[in-house]
Amino acid sequence: MRGHNTQCFCKRIVVITGNGLTLGKYRQLESVKLSLGKPYYESNGIAIYNGDTLELSSKLPANVIDALITDPPYCSGAAGSAVGADPTDKYCHNSNTLGRPSFGGDFRDQRSFKYWCSLWIGQALRACKDAAYGLVFTDWRQLATVIDALQAGGFCYKGLISWDKGGGARAPHKGYFRHQCEYIPWGSKGKVPKLKDRGPFPGSYSIGVKQVDKHHMTGKPTPLMQRLVQCVPAGGLAFDPFCGSGTTLVASVLEGRGAIGFEASEEYCEIAARRIEAAQRGELLRFQRE
Ligand SMILES: C[S@@+](CC[C@H](N)C(=O)[O-])C[C@H]1O[C@@H](n2cnc3c(N)ncnc32)[C@H](O)[C@@H]1O
Repeated sequence: MRGHNTQCFCKRIVVITGNGLTLGKYRQLESVKLSLGKPYYESNGIAIYNGDTLELSSKLPANVIDALITDPPYCSGAAGSAVGADPTDKYCHNSNTLGRPSFGGDFRDQRSFKYWCSLWIGQALRACKDAAYGLVFTDWRQLATVIDALQAGGFCYKGLISWDKGGGARAPHKGYFRHQCEYIPWGSKGKVPKLKDRGPFPGSYSIGVKQVDKHHMTGKPTPLMQRLVQCVPAGGLAFDPFCGSGTTLVASVLEGRGAIGFEASEEYCEIAARRIEAAQRGELLRFQRE
């Protein structure tokens, strides 16, 4: 475990840093660290914790997060085939992962998935400030389930953002309408804030997946995540409890937001850390196939 800590915190002086974040804003992250201890990785207002989301989230302090933005395991597919299935077979149709590691947590049937989601969403809600946003990715099959879980977890359901991946998206065979979109049901902790400095945000994004920008077998495009983190105030704190290869955190670096990610796989924590380091140097790490 690398246990990086490249940022020294000061409680009194407010210093403007390179990416526009202030140490005043780092206080949100500081209070998380007081509860959770030393992160796996930390640099300039971005932190990753390696562990189970339910366990870590239960220790989060209340009222510190500006937005929950996350892409959990979808647990999609018929219960019989999904339980015990390796995501390598499910997401890489020719089983060619190009070297991207597999991941856990993708095994629940729909009923237990809804229950599990409502648990971690509820914990995230407690850590959110009033009027914080909650954005959770899902696919066509689990959409209704995630909308239910978002509300069971305590967010007020406000709408649906669509992400159009383009015409290269999967269709099982001729005769199908392509599974071209993924969805991001969104809500807020209480009333949606009336912002003066940004929004209304687009409710639909057409952004293709580029292999060089895809570091996880279900990785989301960095430009998409850059658009979504706009709901976090500049210098505020995004929370991704399933951060995978760290795309939400990289987008937060690029947009001058702070972020905390939780991730069960140490291999993915390391990939995320390398991407964040690159983004903070002003570079986008390119995925290289094995
Ligand atoms: C769909 S992927 C996220 C991919 C991410 N959006 C990206 O662009 O790289 C979900 C991630 O959640 C992680 N995960 C699954 N169960 C978890 C748990 N209980 N606690 C923390 N992380 C978990 C998996 O290891 C996986 O990397």
